[in-house]
Amino acid sequence: MSISPAQGVFPVSQTATLRDMTIDDYDAVIALWQQTEYVNLNECDTRDGIDLYLRRNPGLCFVAETGNGIVGAVLCGHDGRRGFLRHLAVARDHRQSGVGKQLVNKVMDALHEQGIGKCNIFVDNGNKPGFSFWEYMGWGYLRRKFSHLANRDAPVHPLWGYTHT
Ligand SMILES: CC(C)(COP(=O)(O)OP(=O)(O)OC[C@H]1O[C@@H](n2cnc3c(N)ncnc32)[C@H](O)[C@@H]1OP(=O)(O)O)[C@@H](O)C(=O)NCCC(=O)NCCS
Repeated sequence: MSISPAQGVFPVSQTATLRDMTIDDYDAVIALWQQTEYVNLNECDTRDGIDLYLRRNPGLCFVAETGNGIVGAVLCGHDGRRGFLRHLAVARDHRQSGVGKQLVNKVMDALHEQGIGKCNIFVDNGNKPGFSFWEYMGWGYLRRKFSHLANRDAPVHPLWGYTHT
């Protein structure tokens, strides 16, 4: 079925299109993330967790798909000040064809439409190709003086299927 951009589907290349992620995509997206290096899944990535995230952040999370299924995915949300982009992944056999870049650009356009200009990402310290990709895309360290802390001993919410790692 062909859907026009006006209906929310955007051509990426001859083989992939972008559209909003829905919870119906969960099984395919979680499989992609599980197969993707440096995508660190945690207690927020259960079906209920992603459902909550998608409902909290409408219009900011996308998949790229071909006739064979989902080949790319990204989550994004914002807190009214800054965006937070997470879990950007492109299937290995669809890399280097513009899918990752289009997903990032789509997220940034969607953030901009919601009045958010800046976006944060968390890159695994071991992910040298990831750093290289982001640098190529024009992203870089904002300030190195901050460290990433969280209340890591928070009690497990009933929504979550397993404890934080
Ligand atoms: C990083 C990732 C999303 C890139 O996806 P992709 O679809 O291959 O990227 P694109 O084809 O859209 O590349 C866009 C541009 O970046 C370049 N690029 C892609 N990967 C690159 C890399 N590792 N280093 C430098 N440049 C890179 C491409 O050559 C392309 O350049 P062009 O626009 O001049 O043609 C993909 O490699 C991936 O899923 N990696 C594993 C998960 C990961 O690291 N995610 C990011 C976590 S923060």
